[in-house]
Amino acid sequence: MTEPLLSIDSLQVWFPLRHGILNRVRGYVRAVDGVSMDIAAGETVGLVGESGCGKTTLGRAVLGLEKIHSGTVRYNGRDLATFKGAEKLQWRRRCQMIFQDPFASLNPRMTAMELVSEGLAQHGLLKGVSREEAAIELMGEVGLDAESRLRYPHEFSGGQRQRISIARALSLKPEFIVCDEPVSALDVSVQAQVINLLIELRERHRLSYLFISHDLGVVRHIAERVAVMYLGRLVECGGCAEVMEAPKHPYTRALLSAVPRPGRTSGKRELLSGDLPSPTAPPSGCPFHPRCPMARPECAREAPPWRETKGHGVACHLNGG
Ligand SMILES: Nc1ncnc2c1ncn2[C@@H]1O[C@H](COP(=O)(O)OP(=O)(O)OP(=O)(O)O)[C@@H](O)[C@H]1O
Ligand SMILES: [Mg+2]
Repeated sequence: MTEPLLSIDSLQVWFPLRHGILNRVRGYVRAVDGVSMDIAAGETVGLVGESGCGKTTLGRAVLGLEKIHSGTVRYNGRDLATFKGAEKLQWRRRCQMIFQDPFASLNPRMTAMELVSEGLAQHGLLKGVSREEAAIELMGEVGLDAESRLRYPHEFSGGQRQRISIARALSLKPEFIVCDEPVSALDVSVQAQVINLLIELRERHRLSYLFISHDLGVVRHIAERVAVMYLGRLVECGGCAEVMEAPKHPYTRALLSAVPRPGRTSGKRELLSGDLPSPTAPPSGCPFHPRCPMARPECAREAPPWRETKGHGVACHLNGG
């Protein structure tokens, strides 16, 4: 087997909770609490789960933007923590992120051309006319007219702004992009166009995506595999079609049953009751047990082990995989 592009092993990212004038640490938000998964070159993995379960934190941690509490992230077999100097710079170029809200992530005082070529400028790549040419080429790649290169973010539509963000991410020729809810803020009609652009770019440049979304339909369209996260942990991971058609974890079933599907008029709906517990004091055993309709006494006592068959993994006492 070839080395995965990205390999996450028992990753924990905890945010300290500070208290009082002495700023003592009185606990931790366990935003990511022991996640392991691989992403192959050219592959897209969807990451789904309720708000606050740790998706963004996981995405940021694999890009080296969050302090790791324990565990490792390997990029092409090398531990990120060991990257230094030129190698670190190189890796920073190769891994990029696209955010949900392009308005917040684009400087309103910069023109489209400046925004698109900012990364090139920061890394001291290309100068003057050739940078302008590169910007025009990048704008073309994402379907923006070169004539609009002197316009400012507010003069573009939401979808076009997201195209600018995508062009920015592409400018440094990345191999891996964390897409954090890239279409959630867009109109449904525009969502499909941006998703199709991401797919097109993936094929053209052999990109890998970690695609964070709460929309399972969108994930199914773009990702080959999907990872389901609950309270900082992965509860299920496998091929999109398999996980969505034959989910093994009660949480995945609940997530899926919240998605309206044409043609489904009856059938059992397992709706989630209660809120996501606090990640500062996660429940004992299986983190989902207080909300699980099938929980048994052992679920509160012991964390279920990860069991995997034919690439479909699950952490549930009731499911042997
Ligand atoms: N910088 C931070 N300091 C303290 N706590 C944080 C920080 N960033 C995130 N958290 C907490 O970590 C947990 C996970 O947050 P995260 O943003 O990763 O969730 P998410 O799955 O991306 O949610 P959403 O779907 O709403 O974007 C939350 O409880 C959040 O409050
Ligand atoms: Mg998020």
